[in-house]
Amino acid sequence: MTLYKVFYDVLADLADLFDAENRIGGHETAQELRAICGKVHTPLLPAHQVLTETIQQALTINPLPIAAKIAKVMPLIHWHSSGMVDGRIRPEISNHLATAELVGPDGMIYSEHVRVGLFAQSPNLNYVTRKHAAEETFIMLGGSAYWQVDGEDPVLGKTGDMIFHPSNTPHATITKDEPFISAWRWTGDIAYDQYTLTG
Ligand SMILES: [Fe+2]
Repeated sequence: MTLYKVFYDVLADLADLFDAENRIGGHETAQELRAICGKVHTPLLPAHQVLTETIQQALTINPLPIAAKIAKVMPLIHWHSSGMVDGRIRPEISNHLATAELVGPDGMIYSEHVRVGLFAQSPNLNYVTRKHAAEETFIMLGGSAYWQVDGEDPVLGKTGDMIFHPSNTPHATITKDEPFISAWRWTGDIAYDQYTLTG
């Protein structure tokens, strides 16, 4: 299979994963991804990479099947540090986070309705409390992390787990001795203007 075709295969797998979430936002996400997969597939060029070793490692820790496809198509995925947009996440944190917006207003593939992407976090890092207007779900694809939602005790998230954050719910993500990689989706108000770090 031509390499860029694997990227669309990843989008199709993400559609199935978010559909299984069984929430309206998950179904919306799946519908948007399937609409993109059903159109002519735009070829993709080699793209910007960050934290490559961390991401590759996370993809090997108790991974979901989609992880092998992501590893294969890595060179075509546009990765960046999470704080790059406007510095709202301070560098000592953002330098250890990697985000890719696969689909969305700023994504590799344009959509005005949803944002769908991948996210990886280095070991031994507290990605401190933040909140935003969008409703959000993370799906753990490999590795593990503790998720703290709305000031509750942190809960261990492992491969296959789904972590749901309603609009404007404070959340933090703490890694121990291994990294993780997840898929994420934003629905509802997907603008970044209300994104704030409070931790
Ligand atoms: Fe979030």
